[in-house]
Amino acid sequence: MNKFKITETCLRDGHQSLIATRLTTDEILPILGEMDKVGYNALEVWGGATFDSCIRYLNEDPWERLREIRKIIKNTKLQMLLRGQNILGYRHYADDVVEKFIFKSIENGIDIIRVFDALNDLRNLKTSIDSVKKYGAHLQIAMSYSISPVHTNEYYIKLSKDIENMGADSICIKDMSGILLPYEGYELIREIKKNISIPLEIHTHSTCGLGEMLYLKAVEAGADIIDTAISTFGGGTSQPPTESIVKSFENTKYSTGIDFERLEVIADYFKPIREKYLDQGILSSKSYYINPQIIETQLPGGMISNMVNQMKAQGAENRFDEVLEEIPRVRKDLGYPPLVTPLSQMVGTQAVMNILSKEKYKMVSKEIKDYIKGLYGKPPAEIDSDLKKKILGDEEEITCRPADLIENEFLKFKEESASFAKNDEDVLSYILFPQIAKNFLEKKYNQNDKQVININLEFN
Ligand code: CO
Repeated sequence: MNKFKITETCLRDGHQSLIATRLTTDEILPILGEMDKVGYNALEVWGGATFDSCIRYLNEDPWERLREIRKIIKNTKLQMLLRGQNILGYRHYADDVVEKFIFKSIENGIDIIRVFDALNDLRNLKTSIDSVKKYGAHLQIAMSYSISPVHTNEYYIKLSKDIENMGADSICIKDMSGILLPYEGYELIREIKKNISIPLEIHTHSTCGLGEMLYLKAVEAGADIIDTAISTFGGGTSQPPTESIVKSFENTKYSTGIDFERLEVIADYFKPIREKYLDQGILSSKSYYINPQIIETQLPGGMISNMVNQMKAQGAENRFDEVLEEIPRVRKDLGYPPLVTPLSQMVGTQAVMNILSKEKYKMVSKEIKDYIKGLYGKPPAEIDSDLKKKILGDEEEITCRPADLIENEFLKFKEESASFAKNDEDVLSYILFPQIAKNFLEKKYNQNDKQVININLEFN
């Protein structure tokens, strides 16, 4: 069995990576009929920044977008991305909120939920896993891919087995920085495939110039599904382009059977939309710069420019190389966290502070302190014991699942939002993004009320 399938990401990661998640529902809906005929494994349409962007910038209800998409997509599975106990935000939410969010996502049309934890601490996924199973969606558990002395093939093989044993329907290698090298990926995928029986999906980005090569080797190694984005919103910081991948395997034993001309129709549809975002300056040519430096630093491009600015503000930009050298040391001290949001920012800022102050770890952010305390979960390796002592002093470390310490909170927020939230979906929007959801919902329902009044007047 050499066939592999494709998950199309342009409606989530693709536009998140290239145009700051600005596609509107009106821009998405007209092409869905065509997309539904392609024969994708799934369409990734929700999660990540889509939710935030809808209410923050687009004045759209993300739940309504999902329902509208579901109405048109009859044959293809709809997929979303969920940050485990963080849902779509950055803090840990209570279990009842995680469960409610998953229930509502499935009820509104999601078929496949990809859950992951930045530290690969499976305890942080427990409630998500139980809830996805309970409400009957396909459970995919993703492993954050990272490079460090502890992130060996053995580490990922053990993690894959644990994930399969936890009841996952499929598993994903999530290479969010696009740093997985083609031949290393080939070995890793082969080893994992030998040890698990559920389907294996690969997710990468073209940022470092490796994505397309990785997919070639991944398919040869037996990957069951790969994530691509239609060319209009593919390449660069996004996923490798769907058409190029499909074409590469045509007339080989790996052929996807996907109709290339149909993909061209989809790509063409998005072209004027891409031009619009280019003209508005939302799509930047910088998103297509190839950044192999990330393979070494593992820092997302945006993170590097952030740190340069921090150093400039301190008049110390000439010491930036020292910061780059400090990053691997900070990472080691902290037990090798994968450098993904929010850990990449935390590690980067700590490296800056270590270089700028005379004594290392004299200044630490609240986030780093919480991390050392165990509030983010269990790091891949032990945190340096001297550092732990220095930061925590007499304070006790947390060794339980962090969410065990959070009281159920859905009802509290429901009461708090009673004056502007009309249903549980609204309450969930409010819990995830309190201030902007409140503004959005007040505006939304006021507008509707006014429209109703206007119509009534007209007919009077
Ligand atoms: Co991604």
